[in-house]
Amino acid sequence: MIKIDKASNRIVLKTKNTTYAMEMLYGKFPVHLYYGKTSPKADMSYKCPIHSFSPYHQEHGLAYLPDIAQVEFPFFGYGDFRATALRLLDLGTGSDVTDFTFRRAKKKIGRVDIPGMPYGDADEKTETLELLLTDDVTGCELYLYYTLFPECDTISRYFKLVNKGQNNIRIQKCMSLSLDLPSANLDLIDLGGKYGRERRVERVPLGHNICRISSKRGASSHHHNPFIMLADHNATEERGDAYAFNLVYSGSFLDEIEVDQNNTTRVMLGLGDESFNYLLCPGEEFISPEAVMTYSANGIGQASRNMHQFVRRHILPPTPFEKRPVVLNSWEAFYFKIDGKLMVDFAKGAHECGMDMLVMDDGWFGARNDDHAGLGDWTPNLTKFPQGLPAFVKEVKQQGVHFGIWIEPEMVNKNSDLYRAHSDWCIRAPGREPLLSRDQLVLDMANPAVLQYLKDSFTTCFRGVDIDYFKWDMNRHMSNVYSPYLPPERQGEAAYRYMLGVYELFRWLRELYPNAMIENCSGGGGRYDLGMMKYSTQIWTSDTTDPIQRTYIQYGSSFGYPTTVMSCHVANHGNSCEDPRKLNYGFRVALNGPLGYEFNVLSVSETAKAAMREQVKEYRLYENLILNGDFYRLVDPFACDCYAYYVVSEDNSEILLSFLQNYDDPKEKSYKLKVSRAKRGMTYRDTISGDTFTGDELRKGITVQAQKKGLYAKMLHLVTEN
Ligand code: DGJ
Repeated sequence: MIKIDKASNRIVLKTKNTTYAMEMLYGKFPVHLYYGKTSPKADMSYKCPIHSFSPYHQEHGLAYLPDIAQVEFPFFGYGDFRATALRLLDLGTGSDVTDFTFRRAKKKIGRVDIPGMPYGDADEKTETLELLLTDDVTGCELYLYYTLFPECDTISRYFKLVNKGQNNIRIQKCMSLSLDLPSANLDLIDLGGKYGRERRVERVPLGHNICRISSKRGASSHHHNPFIMLADHNATEERGDAYAFNLVYSGSFLDEIEVDQNNTTRVMLGLGDESFNYLLCPGEEFISPEAVMTYSANGIGQASRNMHQFVRRHILPPTPFEKRPVVLNSWEAFYFKIDGKLMVDFAKGAHECGMDMLVMDDGWFGARNDDHAGLGDWTPNLTKFPQGLPAFVKEVKQQGVHFGIWIEPEMVNKNSDLYRAHSDWCIRAPGREPLLSRDQLVLDMANPAVLQYLKDSFTTCFRGVDIDYFKWDMNRHMSNVYSPYLPPERQGEAAYRYMLGVYELFRWLRELYPNAMIENCSGGGGRYDLGMMKYSTQIWTSDTTDPIQRTYIQYGSSFGYPTTVMSCHVANHGNSCEDPRKLNYGFRVALNGPLGYEFNVLSVSETAKAAMREQVKEYRLYENLILNGDFYRLVDPFACDCYAYYVVSEDNSEILLSFLQNYDDPKEKSYKLKVSRAKRGMTYRDTISGDTFTGDELRKGITVQAQKKGLYAKMLHLVTEN
């Protein structure tokens, strides 16, 4: 609900459980009043304590200090010395000072589209507030958007800048969301990491300084995820204030947090200022990517669940399959050594093991026998597939499985026909040799000719090929950023326009294959972000398939992202498929998202095959709960090397509780696992052990004892009896 009260100059936004309030002070300055729980006790007064060295407008005196006030959207150069959301350079005058003041507020049903970009889909309850601010000197109009997704307690923020002046303007810093919170007693929770160790949760208290979490890699990256939370120092999974933020974008980004002299915490998310600037000529407009925020009065767990719900309801594409396919992927089984005959046998093996999708990974095209050649040449390798792709895929399907295929459209090997013909189609700075990474270069996706080439070659390559699934990979980051296609004055847009090109190609592929699903991958989970989730049903969580490491990665991923996107594959780590304990542990760890397998089913014993068949059957029993249930973290693996969580159906009648013990524990420590969503007065039966528990017992907590020997998994599938 959006309420614009002209008499008081106040605007109030309400979601299911939260309120967001602002005031147009003196009818001119949008100041922030409140974001938190909806409550009659909420303090929504405007406060601006006086501090020396803070400039002010003569006519309003000390009642409005741009450097102290909590503001809705800070711009550079007019008295607010804190980190800024918008910095514009007037190329006519050379001035980077702007002074945006409020003109009018409008509300509309639904939302405003962001052309070419991914964003949250509106539903029947979505409403949008539009604030218009103008800067008289540059002639720029700034539209601030607040889109409400009430059921998920989520509000999104983005802006449109229109150059109505005479001069060219350069956007030098672009943050989509800015929020001033009246507290300095907050912890920052973020998901740093590296290749193979994505999304490791870090929690640190904020200080009176500026903290920047960013990627300049042209990808959201394994190293810094755009998702962050701010939480009270003593907030737990179930208690305390927590705010969560994310950006619907997959390229370089900046999350910036500043705690000021007045103990206001400013948090901002956007494209930032290091990997982005944008030329806005008279008459042109620019819309920022969307950023989202949520608030929970019930701890960080609820903030995560709000985000999960937002992603499931408003971001993810519809799934073309009634049941998510259980994938068998060829990569860890064979790497590049694949051919048609082997893949048909592999498909048969997948079917025998109860799996229903063969995904043929890297190595099927051009001269791609290793990672030194062939990328960019999207023609099947006829030595490996003499019958051609259509006939080959037909044969795969005769084995009783669906067919998926790996592509990496954004890249090129120097040793490829594409590079030999068009070396100027790569990102490369003039006069400088581009750096290699995995022996590949990045194509300039800002160049329409590159996009056209990719569309044409995939159309030809896949003509008549019945594809059910694409694994879209991206295996290096952007360095020496420069688009040979763009003019010099637009080079600050190269990485941003690259992403627009990538998104266009995603949309094109989805239209070409409306019934196929896309799994996104970037050397594992290097683009685990809301932009990619808009087009991909699943994301390959990490190239690390060791189940022990996966517990940490999966735990971290759950902070911002729902289990339904998290591809969880059982792999032959440490020859686990012939060791029932290890195979079972890998499977239990993988029951945290859509299931798949990563190993050579052609060389495993009949016993292992039978075990996998049983696993797939068991997964199907819980699948709906795993993919769509509400997710509760219970034990933090970073704290004690054991991971525990549960998922629960909306009506609390079905619960899947998982306890995973990575390492040996000679002390056999016990853990009390409280299932707060169990219903009082109900009896639950564990379908695995047959044991029964009352709802009250589960709420108080059941005890699970660690074992002397690690790789121990305990799972309870609880269903109500009465
Ligand atoms: C990196 C991915 O993460 C792997 O799963 C695999 O697809 C390889 N690329 C193929 O080159």
